[in-house]
Amino acid sequence: MSSDQQVVSLCDAYKDYFPIGAAVSSRCIHTHRDLLLRHFCSVTATNEMKFSSIHPDEGSYQFVLADSIVEFAEANDMLIRGHTLVWHQQTPERVFIDSDGASASRDLLLSRMRDHIETVVSRYKGRVYCWDVVNEAIDDKGSDYLRPSKWLQIIGPGYIEKAFEYAHAVDPDALLFYNDYNAVAPYKREKIMRLITELQQKGIPIHGIGLQGHWNIYWPSVDEIRYALDDYARLGLTIQITELDLSVFAYGDTRIDLTEPTSEMMELQANRYEELFRLFREYKGVISGVTFWGIADDVTWLHNFPVRGRRDWPLLFDCEHQPKESFYRVARF
Ligand code: GLA
Repeated sequence: MSSDQQVVSLCDAYKDYFPIGAAVSSRCIHTHRDLLLRHFCSVTATNEMKFSSIHPDEGSYQFVLADSIVEFAEANDMLIRGHTLVWHQQTPERVFIDSDGASASRDLLLSRMRDHIETVVSRYKGRVYCWDVVNEAIDDKGSDYLRPSKWLQIIGPGYIEKAFEYAHAVDPDALLFYNDYNAVAPYKREKIMRLITELQQKGIPIHGIGLQGHWNIYWPSVDEIRYALDDYARLGLTIQITELDLSVFAYGDTRIDLTEPTSEMMELQANRYEELFRLFREYKGVISGVTFWGIADDVTWLHNFPVRGRRDWPLLFDCEHQPKESFYRVARF
């Protein structure tokens, strides 16, 4: 038996728990094909379904790249998470401007949002099983509630409920998620809880909460995540970890001199992945999916972010696509 055959498939290991997914680009479905087919049973398009990619110009939709991911997933019996319909980033400026170059009116922006959601959701109806309908609408600043995005400024807070209603009207079977980062941090968790409770009280069709999971090898603590899972579970919605990666750098660490991770970093990361997945398995009743934001360390958004010129090693497979210690701690339990 080759060493590759001895490596258990992640999806098989978790078949009694939840699907294991990866964010993919239209390129890495080719470059990372073997890992994807062996270990992952769900995909999210990294960028290809975002507003500026799929709907770059007024009335002009570009489905080719998103389609290639959907077709890849379908050909290989994988689930498809849709990401994302309404976000303050990667949305063309022209969406918020009218034909005279002035700020779009509320009615105009609402009708553009509706057209976008209806067109994209209907194209993938019955194929994309869940959507991150609204991404990152909560403000990071202390007591401020909603992020002061153009969506909020022009439409008002009702833009969030409208987005869910439009999506639900087109595909009533799709599970609709609110997705955000730092969602386990108490300051933000309380605001997300408030938002979802308000939506539920109004009878808005929302089914899930996406905790992005852009964490690092020191933060957040398992207790903080556990507390957040307990809290969110009380809302009665399903929970997914939608964008998991564990940077090897603590916040504020700006070193850029490393060309490879230290053994201490890899050991800490393996310990963290082990304890996180132990927790996730414990919460399999409320967690319905865990998606990594990437596949292997050669391609990650954390190269150059948040520190320019710095590499990072946040995933389960190394730059040569070999399993890391972190992989074994997740897959063997
Ligand atoms: C956020 C978005 C993702 C992605 C990451 C960074 O978490 O939800 O789509 O853009 O930032 O790569």
